[in-house]
Amino acid sequence: MDKYIEIIKQRLNPYRFTHSVCVAECAVKLAEIYGADVKKAYVAGVLHDIMKNTPDEEQLDYLKDLDVSLNKTELSNPKLYHAISGAHYIKNELKIDDKEIFDAIRFHTTGRAKMSLLEKVIYVADFVSDDRSYNGIDEIRAAAYRSLEEAMMIGLEFSIQEITQKKQTLHPDSVDAYNELILEANYE
Ligand SMILES: [Fe+2]
Ligand SMILES: [Fe+2]
Repeated sequence: MDKYIEIIKQRLNPYRFTHSVCVAECAVKLAEIYGADVKKAYVAGVLHDIMKNTPDEEQLDYLKDLDVSLNKTELSNPKLYHAISGAHYIKNELKIDDKEIFDAIRFHTTGRAKMSLLEKVIYVADFVSDDRSYNGIDEIRAAAYRSLEEAMMIGLEFSIQEITQKKQTLHPDSVDAYNELILEANYE
């Protein structure tokens, strides 16, 4: 476990390092509450932003070397690169052969439909970890301890609003995640 802490200490700036540790701690708490794998939640939390401070071009080159292609939406939004390159990095360089951890990192920025419990835990922990402070955090933090889906919904609303306000491209996976939550909420 500690070896991953050492690795991110090398790869991330102090702000991002603290954030990653806080996300891991929060992911463990959420995993305990909702019955996800606590160990995997910790590892995915520590490593989820491992490529966040790597230059965009370097991330694209890395993915190209692995023959991983990005779609138009992904290419147009550099903020999405690190989730994709990070998932591949932990698989190929850190030799973490675990599809659940891979997906939790791969989809931590966009979300997607049919997310696993671990994916939801990491997605929500990324929003409500102790280092976070933004308008509305109290609402989503309270929701996170009531219902992961409710917290996901608020998180997605927040992201979608931010993206549309900045006139950036909205990833279809986020739309799918949002629609699924709405549909499920309506059928309760
Ligand atoms: Fe991230
Ligand atoms: Fe993060």
